[in-house]
Amino acid sequence: MARLTGTAPKRVGLILGREWSFPPALIEEVAKRDEGVTVEYARIGATLMDQPCPYDVVIDRISHEVPFYRTWLKKALLDGATVVNNPFMWSADDKFFGAALATKLGVASPKTVALPNKSYVPGIVPSESLRNLEYPLDWEGLVREIGMPCILKDAHGGGWKEVYVCRSLDELLHNYDRSGLLTMVVQEYIQWEQFVRCLCIGQEEILPMKYDPRERRYLVEHAHLSPEVGSRVVQDARTLVRALGYDMNSIEFAIRDGIPYAIDFMNPAPDMDINSLTPHYFEWVVGRMADLAIKLALEPRPQAKEMRWHALFGGDVGGHKPAAPAPPAMPRRPAAGHPA
Ligand SMILES: Nc1ncnc2c1ncn2[C@@H]1O[C@H](COP(=O)(O)OP(=O)(O)O)[C@@H](O)[C@H]1O
Ligand SMILES: [Mg+2]
Repeated sequence: MARLTGTAPKRVGLILGREWSFPPALIEEVAKRDEGVTVEYARIGATLMDQPCPYDVVIDRISHEVPFYRTWLKKALLDGATVVNNPFMWSADDKFFGAALATKLGVASPKTVALPNKSYVPGIVPSESLRNLEYPLDWEGLVREIGMPCILKDAHGGGWKEVYVCRSLDELLHNYDRSGLLTMVVQEYIQWEQFVRCLCIGQEEILPMKYDPRERRYLVEHAHLSPEVGSRVVQDARTLVRALGYDMNSIEFAIRDGIPYAIDFMNPAPDMDINSLTPHYFEWVVGRMADLAIKLALEPRPQAKEMRWHALFGGDVGGHKPAAPAPPAMPRRPAAGHPA
C-alpha cells in the first residue's frame, strides 16, 4: 500500500520483556516497508482512566508476567486500540478448558482430567469451606481412565514448569502431593513418532516446524511431515487459533499413528528468539508479524465485538460458519398475555 503523505503515521506499541532479537527486528522490518506505520517500545506509567491509549495497535509479549500491563491493555482495548493478543482471551487460557475445546472442535487432544487442588490459602478450612468438593479422589479409577504413563501438569503453566511424566500411581501421587496451590491436570501420555511446533500469526499463517522436545530445539527440515499429516496440522492449528482469537500463538502437536494430538496450544506470547527459532524461521516470524502489525494499524478490527464466546462454546468457529448474531443487550419485554 502506498504511503499517504501528510497523514500522521499509525503507531504500534510493543510491550516486551527481556527478549532482545525479535523487537528491534520487527521495528526495522516495519520501518523498511514504509507504509505509514511505526513500531516503538510502548511507554506505560500510572494511567488515568480517561487517559486515551496513544497506540493504534499494541503487541503484548509480557503481560503474563507483569499484571499491571494486563490491566492497562484491557483499557487500551476499550479505547479502540487493537491488542495482540486480546487481553481478555487470556482468562480462557488453561489446559483443561483447552483440551475440552479442542475435542469439541474436532481436533485430537489427549484425554485430560482436571484435579481438585492439593492445598489452599490459609483462610480455607476444609470441613467448612470445601463442602462442594468431592474428596479424596478415586486415584485407581482415574488411572484406569487415563492409562500409564501419564502426564501431570499445571493447568495454567507454561515454559515446561511443573510438567511431570508419571510411570506409576506412586509417582503420580508423589508429584500431586507437591503441587500445592496449583490446579493440576492429568493427561494421557501420547507416545509420539513425530513432534511439531507451529508458529501461528494473524489466525491464518501457520508455520509447522520440526521440534525435538527432549533437546528443546527446532530442526530445520522442510519435508518432515507427509502431505496428509502436514495439511491436517495446518488445518487443526488454524481451527484452534481462530477459536481462541489469538493472533500470535504457538501450538504443539504430538503425532501418534498419523494423528496429530494438540498438546499445548495456548501460548499467546510464544518464543520468537533468533537462537531458538534459527535464523530461517526467525525471518519468517518477523515478516509475518510485520504484515500483521501493518494490517491491524491500517485496517483496525472491532476487537471488543470479537469476543466470540458464544461461537467458541458452540464449536462454531474456524471460518466454517459465521458466528450467530449477538443477543440484544437487554431482554425484550414479554409480549402482553405471556407471563414473565
Ligand atoms: N500428553 C502428553 N503426551 C506426551 N508428551 C507431553 C504431553 N504433555 C506434555 N508433554 C511433553 O511435555 C512438554 C511440556 O508440556 P506442555 O503442555 O507443552 O507445557 P508448557 O505449557 O509448560 O510448555 C511438551 O512439549 C511435551 O514434550
Ligand atoms: Mg509447551
